[in-house]
Amino acid sequence: MAYDNSEQVISVPLLDLRAQYQSIRNEVLAKVENVLETQYFILGPEVEALESEIAEYCGTKYAIGVSSGTDALLASLMAFNVREGDEVITTPFTFFATVGSILRLGATPVFVDIERDTYNIYTKKLAKAFSSKTRAIIPVHLFGQSVDMNPLLEQAKRNGTPVIEDAAQAIGSEYLGSRIGRLGDVGCFSFFPSKNLGGFGDGGMITTNDANLARLIKQIRNQGSATKYFHDILGANFRLDALQAAVLRVKLKHLDSWTTKRRSNAEYYTKRLVETGVAPKYVITPEIVFERHVFNQYVIRAKNRDSLKNFLQDNRVVTEIYYPKPMHLQDCLGIHKKDFGSFPISEQAAGEVLALPIYPELTLDQKEHVVKTIQEFYQG
Ligand SMILES: Cc1ncc(COP(=O)(O)O)c(C=O)c1O
Repeated sequence: MAYDNSEQVISVPLLDLRAQYQSIRNEVLAKVENVLETQYFILGPEVEALESEIAEYCGTKYAIGVSSGTDALLASLMAFNVREGDEVITTPFTFFATVGSILRLGATPVFVDIERDTYNIYTKKLAKAFSSKTRAIIPVHLFGQSVDMNPLLEQAKRNGTPVIEDAAQAIGSEYLGSRIGRLGDVGCFSFFPSKNLGGFGDGGMITTNDANLARLIKQIRNQGSATKYFHDILGANFRLDALQAAVLRVKLKHLDSWTTKRRSNAEYYTKRLVETGVAPKYVITPEIVFERHVFNQYVIRAKNRDSLKNFLQDNRVVTEIYYPKPMHLQDCLGIHKKDFGSFPISEQAAGEVLALPIYPELTLDQKEHVVKTIQEFYQG
């Protein structure tokens, strides 16, 4: 049994939001109290302030607060008028929301397989995916690392296709010195609690440098209405709550220091997994191709992945599989036998990936317990 300095048995949750909350509790409570005093709950000054701060953080001119990362994608697709019969190019190795938002509009996702090292869309294979029906492309900066955007942007430009960055997992991530969320036409962020910048519930943001798009998205967010009770276009209720914005504004101030800790935890795991001889023999550690990687997840590829996961669980280390089933094999797409094997790199990844706890508040004892437990599994 492993013990920490205070002789307590070590356990490692996947995420410890209570530890994070304790470190900002007073600041958050004061801000929440403020909102409660104003009784201004939807959009309003807190949301506008957060929008300015996120725009500044991402280096864009505009940011529009929305109800979730999913709604950020949906509203963006609606802004580009994506509808039935249209095609949207994306990756099969992502969270379902990327694909669900395309399907919700009656459009068809056209998948391009991923790169083995980064799990991001393989831009060298993009060309074949474009057709006369292509209306948008959604690159996903998976696990906190940017997609190789230059080749993607070039091909999108050549085909006149808008680029919607799914940046849900990657706030603060950079590509060749540029923040993600300002590379495509729009960037879509999620404030789901487990994200690097997580609220106390659902929330999201859309970033853009285009004034017309920003205006249109604001209208779509508010039932398609620019003037109250006049609805020139179809929108929905995609508004962000003031309470979420207030919490997120407190957390945004800490984001870079939390990101630094995530990155140093990742560095520690990689170093120790190599030192112990576990990597690369049994486990492949994450590849950093584009700095900066913000490590929303630290994902290894592991031999006997499922047994390793169980062994870690038995030793009080919680891990997760992102994602066990690629999107092209999800039942709701109406899959057929021929679909199996059509995106082999994604399918292989689904059988091998395992996310280790990487949250900023991890202690040295906890990280070492994770490494030692993996070592014990493979080397006895
Ligand atoms: C890649 C990706 N896209 C979209 C989303 C959707 O975000 P939300 O949960 O805020 O709707 C998520 C959230 O998990 C995500 O990981």
